[in-house]
Amino acid sequence: MKKIVLAYSGGLDTSISINWLKEKYGAEVIAALVDVGQPENLQEAYRRAIGVGADKALIVDAKEEFVNDYILPAIGANLFYEKKYPLATALARPLIAKKLVETAKSEGGDAVAHGCTGKGNDQVRFDVGIRSLDPGLAIIAPQREWNISREEAIEYAKEKNIKITVTKKSPYSIDENIWGRSIECGVLEDPYREPPEEIYSWTRITKKPGDIQYLEIDFDRGVPTALDGQKMAPYDLIKSLGKIAGAFGVGRIDMVENRLVGIKSREIYEAPAAVVLIEAHRELEALVLDRELAHYKYIQEEKMAELAYYGLWFTPLRNCLSSFFEESQRYVTGRVKVKLGHHNFSIVGRKSPHSIYDIGLATYDKGDRFDPRHSESFIKLWGYTYELLGKKGRIDG
Ligand code: ARG
Repeated sequence: MKKIVLAYSGGLDTSISINWLKEKYGAEVIAALVDVGQPENLQEAYRRAIGVGADKALIVDAKEEFVNDYILPAIGANLFYEKKYPLATALARPLIAKKLVETAKSEGGDAVAHGCTGKGNDQVRFDVGIRSLDPGLAIIAPQREWNISREEAIEYAKEKNIKITVTKKSPYSIDENIWGRSIECGVLEDPYREPPEEIYSWTRITKKPGDIQYLEIDFDRGVPTALDGQKMAPYDLIKSLGKIAGAFGVGRIDMVENRLVGIKSREIYEAPAAVVLIEAHRELEALVLDRELAHYKYIQEEKMAELAYYGLWFTPLRNCLSSFFEESQRYVTGRVKVKLGHHNFSIVGRKSPHSIYDIGLATYDKGDRFDPRHSESFIKLWGYTYELLGKKGRIDG
């Protein structure tokens, strides 16, 4: 190994990994900071990488790509793993893997490294992504090989004179990007224990009980394009919606999930923009998609969420499903009205030029154009087989 590209986060683990990699492999280490909209100050992390011994550091801006190629498709597919988790961490992993591979190529690296532990899903997503994008690259996961505790990591940093200020010892493991914030470990490992308020950051309520706010979200072919009539790039829209909904304490998710590596884990997520956008998007779809497409799409959404969660993003099936979802969004254009309140929100209105809701058919008031005589004949045929079975005594009532 001559040159290793390390996915660097700025935290303790990846900081000491720089030293470990250099000592163990005698290689040059390039720290790659991939920007997927996490709130960290990346300039500071850049300086820290150099400060702790990286031969070179690079900030790779992947924000646009993350939104366009991962988040917008996730909205189109109403993506939730096990019906709850909007997959923020999971969606960013294949993209970071891709950026590592690209950096290795442009910098002449022969290996890539990441800071995942040997217990989680992320190692799978990185490794599988990297192997499929460039089967020739070596992959090193220092935490997996090394397996040291946080105390030992701090000790190692001291010993090797790695200047890293461990700011306020947090017992939690946190991962963030523009689509959401994932929190695990510490007291959260007891699934019966209510999460302490201190773990939340994006959904700290600043509104008073009783406060409400209406919001209008416009979609164009499944892509959110405006908030309250104001056109915005999707990245900015997600950011501002996250702030608005987060201030109402909307977007907290507390779940026990099935990890890919066969264990269950208790996870907390904060994803205010994701939950509001997907719910709004779904409501718009309800207005414009025909029943057959809508029902078939539900099934594919579950499959797509699994593929994203399992690290199978760069795969033929995911490509095929993406084409299906893209086509399904052709008429998903319109406006959705959202009402935000204390720790909750609801969709209270939707409209679209492509709506196939027909008030003349739906109404029970005057103006009704629905001819109930057609229903009679329809039901006759619909129930024909079962009437026959009934006559033959073959129905268990
Ligand atoms: N369980 C989630 C997933 O597998 C989130 C993992 C996030 N990592 C963390 N350090 N909190 O996608």
